[in-house]
Amino acid sequence: MAILVTGGAGYIGSHTVLALLERGEDVVVIDNLSNASQESLIRVAELTGKEPAICVADILDRNALKTLFAQHNITDVIHFAGLKSVSESIAKPLAYYENNVVGTMVLLDEMQRAGVHSLIFSSSATVYGNPESVPLSEASRTGGTTNPYGTSKLMVEQILRDFSVAEPHFRITCLRYFNPAGAHPSGRLGEDPNGIPNNLVPYISQVAIGKLACLTVFGDDYPTPDGTGVRDYIHVMDLAQGHLAALDHRNDGEAFKAINLGTGVGYSVLDLIKAFEKAAQTKINYRIVGRRSGDVAECWSDSSLARQQLGWQATRNLEEMMRDAWNWQKNNPGGYNA
Ligand code: NAD
Ligand code: UD1
Repeated sequence: MAILVTGGAGYIGSHTVLALLERGEDVVVIDNLSNASQESLIRVAELTGKEPAICVADILDRNALKTLFAQHNITDVIHFAGLKSVSESIAKPLAYYENNVVGTMVLLDEMQRAGVHSLIFSSSATVYGNPESVPLSEASRTGGTTNPYGTSKLMVEQILRDFSVAEPHFRITCLRYFNPAGAHPSGRLGEDPNGIPNNLVPYISQVAIGKLACLTVFGDDYPTPDGTGVRDYIHVMDLAQGHLAALDHRNDGEAFKAINLGTGVGYSVLDLIKAFEKAAQTKINYRIVGRRSGDVAECWSDSSLARQQLGWQATRNLEEMMRDAWNWQKNNPGGYNA
């Protein structure tokens, strides 16, 4: 029995593959390496002493999926594969809908043909659009996404919901991640963005190591305690554990579930800078600029449903996130392929 992990060479995927192998699961990875290096999985094998089966292929490739389902006794699929840059999605909407929406439809269709009925999907807090209020619970309004990336996640959730009505024997869990951050505490696995990072923690890390000169803080006039944007940062190892919990509870309740994975605590951009400075024992050079288009003031979770339904909650705090992000950055200044 094996678990198929799509996008398993990527940031969250590789940490989850590690957690799965550590608890004795057999893992098969499919990844087209469009935003990852196979080095991540080599390091997962070093850390765990176990190797996932790896197939370098695209989830849009039906033949590759058919072969994997025929070769391995796959019982569950954890589906990370997708494109995730908001700015790129605005420039290349078709690529985003093709990869994220069509890719998921092809995967689902091939799962059905192969008789594999359990799916965990990487959704995002982006499905809540501009929140009416925080904290965000699963009952909060979704929609009002402002870019093709966010819309692709919303569309996939809707497709999966509709599909689960037609195929009630499927077990589908959409996990809505808040802001993943940090790295494996070994410093061997972490986030390796292409080019200049869009997201806050990789950006701060690269300023700390001297690769980037200065962090631009997007706005200090939000209605938040210090005026900068507030988010729910969650340690990537907590996120990985959340997937294991979702697997364990896949047969509980309804055919379709959507569950937040967050900590339930919001931190501002300035909080993050301070915490990183403490972890790295260095000053982060920053300057305040105007707001970034599409940003919301606050986005943090009510994480009680995950606690109730999955028996899961985040256990790592901001200090550990920043410590591990820095440990990864300083040990791998050029990422995996330096
Ligand atoms: P990532 O880019 O590091 O990982 C995605 C992986 O999927 C990469 O290894 C990439 O090579 C692979 N991939 C992409 N398209 C593919 C395709 N068509 N076929 C096969 N492989 C493909 O991203 P991540 O941060 O690990 O995110 C994983 C998932 O979680 C994504 O679906 C992302 O949208 C979602 N998510 C991420 C965040 C975040 O902040 N990192 C937040 C919410 C949701
Ligand atoms: C962004 C995406 C979101 C996606 C998520 C994870 C946007 C508008 N939203 O979320 O759809 O799901 O990443 O990939 O891009 N910040 C700075 N300076 C920087 C970078 C960020 O001040 O250089 C601030 C932002 O304004 C925000 C906070 O830091 O307040 C977090 O930003 P980021 O890491 O990009 O995540 P989100 O904007 O929450």
